[in-house]
Amino acid sequence: VSRRSEPDLPAIESPLTPALTVEDLEAAARERLPAMVFDYYAGGSGEEWTLRENRRAYERWVIRPRVLVDVSNVDLRATVLGEELPFPILLAPTAFQRMAHRYGEVATAGGAAALDAVMVVSTIATATLEEIAATGVRRWFQLYVLKDRDLTATLVKRAHAAGYGAVVLTVDTPLLGRRLRDERNKFSLPPGIGLANLEGSGLPESEGSGLSSFFQDRHDASLTWDDVSWLRSLSPLPLVLKGILTAEDARLAVDIGAGAIVVSNHGGRQLDGAPATLDVLPEIVEAAGGRTEVLVDGGIRRGSDVFKALALGARAVLVGRPYLWGLAVNGAEGVQQVLEILRDDLIHTMALAGRARVADIDRSAVAAAPRAPERGDDR
Ligand SMILES: Cc1cc2nc3c(=O)[nH]c(=O)nc-3n(C[C@H](O)[C@H](O)[C@H](O)COP(=O)(O)O)c2cc1C
Repeated sequence: VSRRSEPDLPAIESPLTPALTVEDLEAAARERLPAMVFDYYAGGSGEEWTLRENRRAYERWVIRPRVLVDVSNVDLRATVLGEELPFPILLAPTAFQRMAHRYGEVATAGGAAALDAVMVVSTIATATLEEIAATGVRRWFQLYVLKDRDLTATLVKRAHAAGYGAVVLTVDTPLLGRRLRDERNKFSLPPGIGLANLEGSGLPESEGSGLSSFFQDRHDASLTWDDVSWLRSLSPLPLVLKGILTAEDARLAVDIGAGAIVVSNHGGRQLDGAPATLDVLPEIVEAAGGRTEVLVDGGIRRGSDVFKALALGARAVLVGRPYLWGLAVNGAEGVQQVLEILRDDLIHTMALAGRARVADIDRSAVAAAPRAPERGDDR
């Protein structure tokens, strides 16, 4: 699959102990991965408050089950950007997957393709756009706009030529969030792993995080709404804006004709102090007013999380870290396993909640959770 040398990962010596949850796979991945790699995948920025909030936000809602509904057939199909998906869960773009598994993004693509899921491929992937396309996976391309605009244009044109179905412009990363774990670990790419789509280059030498230095050197922090028309001129692909957290920006996204937006705080890795994505989802859905599709990511770890996001107006969700854990533990099969865990858990949740189709998961399917007792409440 690749001519690049393989990262030095321990071999898989025993068959998988059956993992039932994403957390099971995270625990197995943590044992398997070097600490620098695990920290890069797991960590957030600053004090990781936003990272924790993404999870906590799901605890602030309960599901309102309806009973005596025919749930003998639960139908998960959903339509995103005009494409019918078998279930409303996509793979979020994540960088540097060869650190998790020797076949990296190509293995992830294999796992996604087995279930016909959409994989969003990062600009800073460690396999080429064309290698990933060759797996036949349904694919979208995530774009970081580089100072080198010619190179940026070439990337978009390559993605279009290689059958990618959308350009996902990440808008929350003018510069990299302060990821203290990476700074302390002096994060760098292991030997033999490079940025496969950017002339195969590695990360710059750095006193702190090599990725942070890369963004400082190469990424265009001057990008504004005015540049979007240039971006749209590069290909006919639909444009998705990833990293919207306010109604104001959702309205601007509608105005520039975005096909979809992803409510995202980059998995708590950019602005620490930004809200949990689930908390702002309703205001963004309202601002979008059905004129652009709204997706969400951040902290989704089980079927009930997907259910709550759909109930609050998301058309579909994306997951990042969960499939990286699957990839680290068992390559393509591990990625497939994570998607199956989430998919089957969603079916289970829908059946028990009396919602047989995705369209039945409306706002009435959830309610604010009762307030947790605070210290002193029960005196
Ligand atoms: C290790 C890692 C690398 C990531 N790399 C990228 C990237 O290259 N481009 C991007 O737009 N988002 C990137 N993200 C953010 C994800 O696309 C997504 O927003 C986030 O992971 C969702 O949160 P979750 O991990 O809790 O599911 C990355 C996230 C992680 C965890």
